[in-house]
Amino acid sequence: MAVMGMAAVAAWVPCRSWGWAAVSFGPHRGLSAFLARMPQRAPRWLPACRQKASFSLLNRPDLPNLAYKRLKGKSPGIIFIPGYLSNMNGTKALAIEEFCKSLGHAYIRFDYSGIGNSDGNLEESTVGKWRKDVLSIIDDLAEGPQILVGSSLGGWLMLHAAVARPEKVMALIGVATAADGLVTQFNHLSVEQKKEVEMKGVWSMPSKYHEEGVYNVQYSFIKEAEHHCLLHSPIPVDCPIRLLHGMKDDVVPWHTSMQVADRVLSTDVDVILRKHSDHRMKEKADIQLLVYTIDDLIDKLSVN
Ligand SMILES: *[C@@H]1O[C@H](CO)[C@@H](O)[C@H](O)[C@H]1NC(C)=O
Repeated sequence: MAVMGMAAVAAWVPCRSWGWAAVSFGPHRGLSAFLARMPQRAPRWLPACRQKASFSLLNRPDLPNLAYKRLKGKSPGIIFIPGYLSNMNGTKALAIEEFCKSLGHAYIRFDYSGIGNSDGNLEESTVGKWRKDVLSIIDDLAEGPQILVGSSLGGWLMLHAAVARPEKVMALIGVATAADGLVTQFNHLSVEQKKEVEMKGVWSMPSKYHEEGVYNVQYSFIKEAEHHCLLHSPIPVDCPIRLLHGMKDDVVPWHTSMQVADRVLSTDVDVILRKHSDHRMKEKADIQLLVYTIDDLIDKLSVN
C-alpha cells in the first residue's frame, strides 16, 4: 500500500460486537462475580449496526510500517498476536477488544508485515521478521507492563517476545500455541516428500482453514523458521503462563502446549485442554475461557 505515515484510515464496516461482553463485565473481578455476569445466550452479532472503523500505521525506519489498532487504558495492557496469515480482525482479536474496553484496560492488535494493511510483501515474510514486528509493537506502542495473548504461530512469537523483553512482558496466554510449528510439521514429512519440497521451493500444505485448501509455504520460510525453534532446550521465560488448547486440534497437536509447559522456566504454568475444541478455538465457550483467563491474570498481576 502507499506510504501514509502515521495515518488513521477510516472505513465504514458492519460492526461485529460482542454485545454481552461489553455490558457484562464490570469493575469487580473474581470467578464468582465473573460467572454471575456470564450471559445465558450466545453473543449477538449485529450486522445492521455500523461503526466508524479505523487503524493506524506504526512508522519504522528501514522496516515495513505496521497497521495497528490501540485502545488506551489501564495497566497491564493486553497485546493480541495473531496466527499465521491472520490479521487484526479475527474473532478472538475483536472479542478481547470488547473485553478490554469493558474493563478499561489498554489493548493493541496489529497486522504482521506483509499481512492485511501493513506494508511489506508476504512472499518475503519470515518468522524472524514477524518476531521483530512483535518487538516493535511492544517497544514503540505498548506502555508499561503487558500480557501477551498469542494465537497459533502468535503463541510461538509470544514466547520469543517474553525472552527478549522480560522487563515488560508480565504474563503469557497461548491459544493453540504453535511453538516450532510448520518446522515440526515439515519434519514429519517423509524423506521423499521433503526432497520434493526442496526441489520445488514450495510446500503445498493441506489446510481446511484456507480457502484454496492448501497453504503454499516457501521452502525458504521453513529453513528460516528453523533458526527460531525453541522446544529443543529450556526456554528462559519466568512469568505466569496459561496455555489453552483444543484436543480436536488437527493442525497443532495439544502435546505442543505440554512441551512448552515443560520447557519454560516458569513454575506458574497451567495447560487447559478443551476436549471438543479445534485449532481455531473461537466457539463461544472457547472465547469465554479466553477472556476469563485474561481476567484472572489481570487480577493476579494487580495483587502482586
Ligand atoms: C480490519 O478492520 C478495520 C476496521 O476496524 C479495517 O479498516 C481494516 O481494513 C481491516 N483489516 C483487514 C486486514 O481486514
